[in-house]
Order: sequence, then C-alpha cells, then structure tokens
Amino acid sequence: MRDNYLEEYYSFLRFPSVSTDDQYKEKLEECAGWLVEKLTSIGLQTQLVPTRGHPIVWAHNEQQSGRRTVLIYGHYDVQPPDPLELWDSPPFEPVLKNGYVFARGATDNKGQILSHILGIQETIEQHHDLPVNLHLVIEGEEEIGSANLGGFLNENRNALKCDVGVVSDTGMIARGVPTLSYGLRGVTALEIKVTGPKVDLHSGVFGGAVANPITALAQLLATLHDRDGRVKIAGFYDRVKPLEDWEREAWRKLPVDGDKLIREETGVPELFGEAGYNSVERIWARPTAEINGIGGGYQGKGTKTVIASHAMAKLTFRLVPEQRGDEILELAEVHLQKNLPKGVTIEITTGHSGPWYLTDPHSPLGEAAQHALRNAFNREAALIREGGSIPIVSQFREILGIETLLMGLALPDCRAHSPNENFPLENFEGGIRLNKAILQELAR
Ligand code: BES
Ligand code: ZN
Repeated sequence: MRDNYLEEYYSFLRFPSVSTDDQYKEKLEECAGWLVEKLTSIGLQTQLVPTRGHPIVWAHNEQQSGRRTVLIYGHYDVQPPDPLELWDSPPFEPVLKNGYVFARGATDNKGQILSHILGIQETIEQHHDLPVNLHLVIEGEEEIGSANLGGFLNENRNALKCDVGVVSDTGMIARGVPTLSYGLRGVTALEIKVTGPKVDLHSGVFGGAVANPITALAQLLATLHDRDGRVKIAGFYDRVKPLEDWEREAWRKLPVDGDKLIREETGVPELFGEAGYNSVERIWARPTAEINGIGGGYQGKGTKTVIASHAMAKLTFRLVPEQRGDEILELAEVHLQKNLPKGVTIEITTGHSGPWYLTDPHSPLGEAAQHALRNAFNREAALIREGGSIPIVSQFREILGIETLLMGLALPDCRAHSPNENFPLENFEGGIRLNKAILQELAR
C-alpha cells in the first residue's frame, strides 16, 4: 500500500462528521469538501449537492454508450463517539495499533468507502479510464436515515440511470472471508414522552398520591416483550416471512459459529432471544423492538427525592421481509396507548424509517460479485443476510430500478457505533483490490 494512503485515510477520519448533532454541521461540510477535492484530483467530475440537511457528494466519469453503468454508494457521516471515556485514544485522532486503525468511522464507513475511491484511482492510473460508467454517491445522512437522498435520486433519476449498485457498508463474516450480503433489515424509529405532574415534585410531599412517570414508562416498556424476547405488539409478526429450511441449512454451513461469536464479541453472561432460533437467525431474519435510550429524573451525584414531571425513551424496530415500517409504527402506537398505566399522558413522535432489502445472490450480477470477492480475497464468498440497515438500498430499487451488491468489509469486532471502532489495514487493502475486481467483473 502506498504511504500517502494512510495519510489520506487519517485526514478523512479527522473530520468529526457526526450527522445527528447540529453542532457538527460545518465539520460535515468540510468533510464533504475534502471528498470533492479528492475525487476531482483522481479525474472524476465531482459536485457538492446541497440538501436540507448535509450535502451529497456526487462524482462520475465520462459516460460512454455501451458500457455498464455502476453506482457506488457510501456515507461520510458517522455515529456520535460517546461515551468518550471508553475510548483508548480520542475518536477523531486516528492511530495505528497492530495493523488496525482506531477512530470513529474507521470502518463505518470511511475506511470502506475510501478503499473504493483508491481502487477507482488505481484503475484510472493504470488504464487511463474505468471499464464502466461510474456514479459515486457519498452522502452525509446515512446514520440518521438518509432523509434527503431519496429526493436527490428522484430529481436526478435520468442522469443517474444505471445498471447496478455497489455498497461496501456491510460486514465480512470473519477475517479473510469475503462476504456477499443479500439482505438487510429495515429500521423505523419512535420516541416516547410520558408526562405526570406539571412540575417536578417533592417525593415525600406528593409521593404515593400521584403516578410517577418513570415508573409508568418502565411498566409500559416492559409490555413490549415477553420473557423470551418475543415482541408482544399485536400484529407485529403478521407479515414476517418465515425463515426457509434451505436458508437455515445454508447458514449452518457458514464457516463461523454465530452463537460463539456473539458470546465472545459481546461478553454477555448468556445468549438471549426468541426461542427456536440461533443467534444469526435472530439477527438476520427476525424483527426486533429495541429500547435505545431512556431518561428521566435525577441523574446527578447522590440522591434527590423527586418525582419527575417527565420520562422519555427512544425506540427502534428492526424490520424483516415483508413487514412495513408505517404499519409497524401504527401497531406500536396502538400498543403503547392501550398499555399506558393510569395517571400519566403520553406523546409519541415518529422518526426515520427505512425498509428491509432482500436480493438474489445467484443472479448474474450476484455471481459477478461473488467472482470479484473470490479474486480479491482468494477464497469462496460467504452468502449472508445482515441485521443492520442501509435505508437507501430499497430506494435504489424503487427509484432507479437497480439491484445492489452489498460487498462489505466490516469485521464482527470492528466496534462500529461503539468506542474503539477500528479497521484492519488488511481490509483497507482488500477493499482496494475488491473495487478493482468488481469494476473489471462488471465491465462488458
Ligand atoms: N453500516 C451500517 C449498516 C450495517 C451494519 C449493515 C452492519 C450491515 C452490517 C450503517 O452505517 C448503519 O449503521 N445504519 C444504521 C441506519 C439507521 C440509523 C437508519 C443502522 O443500521 O442502525
Ligand atoms: Zn453505521
């Protein structure tokens, strides 16, 4: 790998491009500007497309008739680095340790998308051109649901006319095992605010005579699941496509022990989840209701005898074929209203929503992806689904009419969204090879 690649990677990682927090708005713009400069310098025609949120970086080569047109997609935004005290080194000051780069975004998605960019760069340098027509779309809002990217695709659907999508924002099942993901879960979000008294109260003077909103919220949230982790919202599973025997069998033959991996990676005292499924089945093929945040009352040092006026929780649902996000949100609202304890009121705000995706890994394009993976990593590709979500992928199908090849480089222990996120240089280099291989594979 060339020396300057690491410097470029570090420069990209140093932008704290946290999309969910407005205080970083300028940093996202600077990060997008850096990408524009980089892509222009390798010979692509590049523009910064403003949106109501964070800008989109759009680059393309000169389109020639008769060539296949490929859309490569990634994101330059990252998740918040909190809690900061759990990082061994500051999240936006990348460091290399034992062949791994540590920083927020190291894997998700800066390392992965930069390896694509460098693959494109090397192909252009070697052949003075690319073997395909290329569109490269790198957005700044993936981690908050890609709210403005669908509009961009719609507005530019003619200019973006293409044959296939390539995305490197998914996982590898294990180190050295190239992986083609043919499914993603969808995700949809809501926030709950439970209100009791009009102000915070003295818990001695009022306690016992009014409902405590935190207790009420805890009781309400506890109605979401049974003791085995099955979601108790009426109708939640109605549209869920059962896991088929062939898929179960195929997953059992994969070169990893999913239960062992989850146990080791998470450090939980024991595995937990819906009865009748192993860990990868639970993650790849079953829907969930998760509480992502909860708050209310006194959080400072010592004690404070208070009954808070409010309590809040943030929830997301992971969706699988054939569930519909809007329907799940409606069912959840009905459930929450129906199970609300006495003495409090509830406000429910719905958030972002992105559908699931499922494609055929054995289609001609899927086979091309498997070829490229084999060429780049010298090993047969594993075929998996993913538990994570990339909201825009289903819109690539709806708006642009294309299927997407999910050929990611994230390792199970990459700590995406967690402290000490990391990416091995081995995968950075593998990603460069993979990009070159897939561009050749898709040429016609
Ligand atoms: N790269 C992830 C998605 C992912 C992770 C796919 C692991 C496959 C395996 C992506 O950047 C991400 O985190 N997406 C969010 C989307 C959400 C905020 C709308 C997610 O899944 O939580
Ligand atoms: Zn992510």
